[in-house]
Amino acid sequence: MEEASGCTENRKKPQFGTRYLNEPEKVFQHNAWDDVEWNEELKQSAEEKLKLNSQTLVPTEDQEKYENEANQFWDKFYNIHENRFFKDRHWLFTEFPDLCISSNTNCDEDNSQNNIGVDSNNKAKERVNIFEVGCGVGNTVFPILETNAGSNVFVYCCDFSETAVSLVKNNSLFDPNYCHAFVCDISSDVWNVPFEESSLDFIILVFVLSAIHPEKMQSTINRLAKYLKPGGEILFRDYGKYDMVELRFKPGRCLSEHFYVRGDGTRVYFFSEEEVHNLFTTAGLVQTQLYSSKRLQVNRGKQLKMYRIWIQAKYMRPLCKS
Ligand SMILES: C[S@@+](CC[C@H](N)C(=O)[O-])C[C@H]1O[C@@H](n2cnc3c(N)ncnc32)[C@H](O)[C@@H]1O
Repeated sequence: MEEASGCTENRKKPQFGTRYLNEPEKVFQHNAWDDVEWNEELKQSAEEKLKLNSQTLVPTEDQEKYENEANQFWDKFYNIHENRFFKDRHWLFTEFPDLCISSNTNCDEDNSQNNIGVDSNNKAKERVNIFEVGCGVGNTVFPILETNAGSNVFVYCCDFSETAVSLVKNNSLFDPNYCHAFVCDISSDVWNVPFEESSLDFIILVFVLSAIHPEKMQSTINRLAKYLKPGGEILFRDYGKYDMVELRFKPGRCLSEHFYVRGDGTRVYFFSEEEVHNLFTTAGLVQTQLYSSKRLQVNRGKQLKMYRIWIQAKYMRPLCKS
């Protein structure tokens, strides 16, 4: 895999968890284990399940409907769940300390390493522009605004579900002085965004690229990359190949390799590290972080083992041409 060019520092993986399963017989003694290695047996059973899943593909006609009406399926999702879904954001500032912009914020000391938006007297410098793509009901946006309250952070956010965007705007934490929420289909050829090219410090892609048709991912990333300032970064977290969610799909839900439709018509793709790397580097960005977070979650009551895999990455628009 291509590494970061000389323009960037190749940062190490942050400390995510500290509980390791060194004695397999003790697996049910805790709820979760970090950095779990997959042995050959696990890989083989996952491969067999995926083979079975992909034997029956969703018919083309239905596939077209899921693509053409994708935003309506998400609208229905948000009409049912409103803001009761995707709540768990305990990992946001641990995984992306960059989002603690100012050192006078509520971040942990370890997390406030980023002083992009402040000078030596902790005074606001130039505005820090963040864009969250596929923001849903704001479960990332509002923690960012709260954590950086009183600093010079401005958050743009979009979703192609009108219902999601209205839920963001109607949230009591929404403040138009610090946030602009708008409807936009980022996979479409027509973009109408309220900021200029080369103007964003961070673009956040959290569990959203997986909802886009794989054939449209590259053009979407190419376009997003143009809106980053030199030195600006895309922060990415999404489902990894073999994640429990992928293995739990029943035959008949597969659209194409690693791409599935849920019962409610919303879709999800499962990435390999290599695919993620290719998408961002093809768009001219350089890697500053890329790893798979492999956790084993345990249901102690039911004695169930659930293997979770998320891919986390950061890619920067180079400051200089390499
Ligand atoms: C799995 S949800 C994640 C929501 C949010 N990022 C979070 O982590 O809470 C995926 C979101 O992406 C949005 N989405 C999917 N395709 C999109 C597109 N082409 N343009 C804009 N938003 C999209 C969906 O409406 C949905 O809100």
